[in-house]
Amino acid sequence: MVIMPSKFAIYATILATTSPGDEVLIPNPTYLFEQAVRLAGATPVFVPLRENYGLDPAILEAAVTPRTQLIIYATPGNPTGHLMDRRDLQATIEVARKHQLILASDETYESLVYDGTHIASAALAYGAERVVTLGSFSKTFAMTGWRAGYAIAPPPVRARLVKVMEHTLTCIPPFVQEACRWALEHAEPEAERFREEFRARRDALVPALASIPGFHLARPNGAFYAFPSYDLPLSSAQFSERLLIEEHVAVVPGISFGPAGERHIRISYARPRAELAEGVERIRRFVERHRA
Ligand SMILES: Cc1ncc(COP(=O)(O)O)c(C=O)c1O
Repeated sequence: MVIMPSKFAIYATILATTSPGDEVLIPNPTYLFEQAVRLAGATPVFVPLRENYGLDPAILEAAVTPRTQLIIYATPGNPTGHLMDRRDLQATIEVARKHQLILASDETYESLVYDGTHIASAALAYGAERVVTLGSFSKTFAMTGWRAGYAIAPPPVRARLVKVMEHTLTCIPPFVQEACRWALEHAEPEAERFREEFRARRDALVPALASIPGFHLARPNGAFYAFPSYDLPLSSAQFSERLLIEEHVAVVPGISFGPAGERHIRISYARPRAELAEGVERIRRFVERHRA
């Protein structure tokens, strides 16, 4: 395991597994991997998702070319909250094995699963030799400001990750590492309490959003995001900016997560329930005003 800030771990994994011009397969929509891939000089290749936001291993395989080196996905996902199941994960590992690729499995939200079970890709057959597991202390232990995460990688990738750390950040501060150890040893009950609170927020938020005219969303089964589509004639950047100005509600434009995210907004439910209820009513007011 290499301890490093989790976003840095994403970037370092791309640096460690690709050369400039190599291709990296990323789901569309997904977390901000595209930007890190470009920064590292590699080329992102978007892979469309199923309607329920699942990654289809057959579609993934069709996108593999001789330049492909790496596949990155997040489970549970951001912005979709989708949790990949065992069958799809195993089939994805098979694709990686067949084409000699590395998988980066971002499991930042592993502790925030409400339906089903989180499955660690590295624990599946051939996972240990193909999968880099990326994780963060930010979500599980509400330690966002501590900038602490990790990568667990097969030995050849691990050796390169250590080099990237050695010649950049050196290490994360030892007192932060101590805090992480303390969290792992003592804060598990808190993490469980968070999960139950987030579940209650999701259960209240999703039906309320679905009742807004023109909104459609799949029920997220993990993480703390809802990702509704809407039918107003506004881009997701326009929608988000106007909503902020007119109703003082902050959401993220879906386009930030890939082209398929357009005409969606990402709503975080990492706020108290009463605030979320108020936010939904303001979004409803905004939508009704713009539809009129
Ligand atoms: C999927 C995913 N990976 C990694 C991160 C980075 O987490 P942090 O930098 O807070 O550790 C986030 C943050 O939102 C995320 O959603």
